[in-house]
Amino acid sequence: MENRPSWSSRYSFILAAIGSAVGLGNIWRFPYIMGQHGGAVFLITYLILITTICFIPLLAELAIGKITQKECIGAFETVNPKLKFFGLMNPITGVLVASFYFVVGGWIINYIYLGLTNFKIENHAQYFSTFTQNTLPTCILSLLFLIACMYFTLRGVKKGIECANKIMMPLFALILLGLIVFSLSLPNAQAGLEYMFKPDFSKINTQMFLCALGQALFTLSIGMGALLTYGSYIKEDKSIAKSAYTIIFFDTMFALMAGIMIFPAIFSFGLEPSSGAGLVFITLPYIFSQISFGNVIFALFFLLLFFAALTSGISILEVPVASLIERMKYSRAKACFVIFVIVAIISILATLSFGLLADILIFKKSIFDFLDFLTANILMPINALVLCLVASFGLKIKGEMFLENKIVAKLFDIGLRYVIPIVLFGVLIVGLI
Ligand code: PHE
Repeated sequence: MENRPSWSSRYSFILAAIGSAVGLGNIWRFPYIMGQHGGAVFLITYLILITTICFIPLLAELAIGKITQKECIGAFETVNPKLKFFGLMNPITGVLVASFYFVVGGWIINYIYLGLTNFKIENHAQYFSTFTQNTLPTCILSLLFLIACMYFTLRGVKKGIECANKIMMPLFALILLGLIVFSLSLPNAQAGLEYMFKPDFSKINTQMFLCALGQALFTLSIGMGALLTYGSYIKEDKSIAKSAYTIIFFDTMFALMAGIMIFPAIFSFGLEPSSGAGLVFITLPYIFSQISFGNVIFALFFLLLFFAALTSGISILEVPVASLIERMKYSRAKACFVIFVIVAIISILATLSFGLLADILIFKKSIFDFLDFLTANILMPINALVLCLVASFGLKIKGEMFLENKIVAKLFDIGLRYVIPIVLFGVLIVGLI
């Protein structure tokens, strides 16, 4: 198709891909999922998965986009028209991910406001629970976050995203480092580090494995078409393998930094690591309340987290929007509007599942938790599995096309064809049973 967007340089593509990867998955989701699955054993499993197994579908997803130069549905259809359905699964997963991601985006806006207004809170856990049950403000904030992301999606891939990434990411890393130093100096910080790095092997179980895999895919944005779509905007670039390493490196660094910042504080303030989705929102204010000028840093931290979430949110929305533009021949504006309406409706349901709709349970989970579990632990692994099979058997993608080292290329081929599909399938089946 003519007039497809494309990146202005390799650098801008890498920045956007890192922007997509580094987001709420690293700072909000990673600590809370790790806290629910036993700390160090989860971390070890996650690190092994992210540095070995995840590299393969990550590279394959970028390669499918780059080779076919199409959005998800078209890319799969190029291989075989019968695969259209599997292509369609990507934008559908995207809409579902967006719907709970934007709820958390809304919470962040509220916390920026708290920092700026020097708001005093006695009990942060209590505050978080009361706030998330408050229908009107939370719904408005989720929509506000959606509108912010949609604004950039509407403007197209090049404008906006690149600039936001260049300045915000380094600044965010700097603040994180500062907070780590502070967190490590708190009394009993040692216990947090032990929780994170000293494995208790009795905590190993299949659920933990499934959740570590889900988290690794989620945080790298694999299995939802975001990297495929971004990859399809690459014109000339032979080194997508290097891009894949870079994405993994930065993403893992941000997750580790978030963990080292949060866990010592959790233990120091006597909080519960397994307390769920509110973990970061409850722990961080305790840290800031101990620091001089804490409020300024509080607001700045959440502002930067907002930008990190924004660049991920934009990439999530780009998937269904690109599909509507290329498949239905919608204008970008019309596609954005349609996706806005759908995501807004599901987001509001997810937002309300903390309050008004708290009694509605799907498989014993609230709407929010169900969307989170369904996408990260089921749909993304299934999409990643299909992706590997399509790349190896359909598009005949070979490691030697991207990897210089012959042995690594061969390992990549075996991984893509057999190992990863079998592991993904096994983890999915065992985890679900
Ligand atoms: N990787 C993003 C994060 O960690 C979330 C995301 C998932 C973005 C899937 C795009 C696709 O926050």
